[in-house]
Amino acid sequence: MAIRSCLPVPALSVERIQFLLNLIVYKAEFFLRASTGRGIDDISPGLVQGPVPVGATLAVLDNDTRRIIEELGLTSVGHMRAISEFTQLNAPIPRPVLNLSAEVFTAFANAALNVSTLTPPFNVYASTTNFLVAATFVSSLLQQYYAGLIPSTVGSVQQRLVAGIALSEAAGYGVLRAQLYPRVNQTVSPYTFTLGRLFNLITELINRLGGCGVKDEGLTVPLQLGAENQTTSNVVPADVNSLAYPRTERELLRIVFGTGNATRPGAIFPAGFNGTLFRRIVLQRLA
Ligand SMILES: *[C@@H]1O[C@H](CO)[C@@H](O)[C@H](O)[C@H]1NC(C)=O
Ligand SMILES: *[C@@H]1O[C@H](CO)[C@@H](O)[C@H](O)[C@H]1NC(C)=O
Ligand SMILES: *[C@@H]1O[C@H](CO)[C@@H](O)[C@H](O)[C@H]1NC(C)=O
Ligand SMILES: *[C@@H]1O[C@H](CO)[C@@H](O)[C@H](O)[C@H]1NC(C)=O
Ligand SMILES: *[C@@H]1O[C@H](CO)[C@@H](O)[C@H](O)[C@H]1NC(C)=O
Ligand SMILES: *[C@@H]1O[C@H](CO)[C@@H](O)[C@H](O)[C@H]1NC(C)=O
Ligand SMILES: *[C@@H]1O[C@H](CO)[C@@H](O)[C@H](O)[C@H]1NC(C)=O
Repeated sequence: MAIRSCLPVPALSVERIQFLLNLIVYKAEFFLRASTGRGIDDISPGLVQGPVPVGATLAVLDNDTRRIIEELGLTSVGHMRAISEFTQLNAPIPRPVLNLSAEVFTAFANAALNVSTLTPPFNVYASTTNFLVAATFVSSLLQQYYAGLIPSTVGSVQQRLVAGIALSEAAGYGVLRAQLYPRVNQTVSPYTFTLGRLFNLITELINRLGGCGVKDEGLTVPLQLGAENQTTSNVVPADVNSLAYPRTERELLRIVFGTGNATRPGAIFPAGFNGTLFRRIVLQRLA
């Protein structure tokens, strides 16, 4: 099997931030529409421009979770505004084609469980637990991108911007995992598997799609993978020194496209990403 490159593609800091915007727009639309039924255009008219996401639905969430998801969606709108104010990536920020249909996540769940279909199909919008699983993976990808982006960012304004956004995202990511951790032994209704097992299988799928080793981890792990080899809880996943795992552009694309191929769009981003870095990845066939 070919070894897929795990090195970052050479790019300017501003190109990486432009790449990042695709993910932030996605997170904001997904979180806001699922928690409140409103999108970025309702919160901050004129901030983004481009096709309205398809397939979004209000999720069935308990009240605390709804507030948390709404807040984290709103913070992403702030992050976009900060980028448009402090870089040359001025508003309106182009919104990529986004497919937020339940079926897109059903396909990820089926692939993770290695079944052609679950009965009934997994519906990300059907419960607090289901939605938290998807939300956690979205936040994970952003947090991992920041871990790679921070050391490569040039310019003090851009460094401050990226650090501020990254720390906000990392905090939100921890909050989401902390919501899931106490539910790890719960059965995911109406199926027979537990949340912990579903979560583990999705992390394995994501690691397979990314193609660059184990960077997503379950909510509980064997002792040898826990912090200082002394705990099986894994609320904050990290490497052997408890440092966050970085992911590059190509790993992220392979994952969010669901194809394991950074030049073959699909799933959440059926038309690919906006921006020069993604175009270069496609032109240079950096799958
Ligand atoms: C959740 O919020 C709704 C609407 O604000 C309210 O009617 C309901 O009582 C709340 N449920 C709980 C358990 O607090
Ligand atoms: C890029 O953004 C524009 C809106 O400015 C949108 O019409 C277009 O479809 C986007 N391209 C991709 C690949 O999503
Ligand atoms: C969104 O995904 C669903 C399920 O895979 C698919 O049927 C639909 O055609 C997609 N829509 C777009 C605009 O890609
Ligand atoms: C999925 O299941 C098939 C058999 O049904 C097996 O051949 C294949 O190796 C499994 N894939 C993974 C990734 O476990
Ligand atoms: C889950 O179950 C295992 C095994 O029964 C137990 O050791 C663990 O404490 C449980 N975790 C939580 C968060 O309830
Ligand atoms: C934990 O175990 C791993 C091997 O699984 C080892 O590489 C690492 O040094 C250990 N860490 C500590 C703090 O003992
Ligand atoms: C990735 O996708 C592109 C476009 O569909 C295709 O031409 C290429 O062969 C694929 N590469 C790999 C390694 O699968």
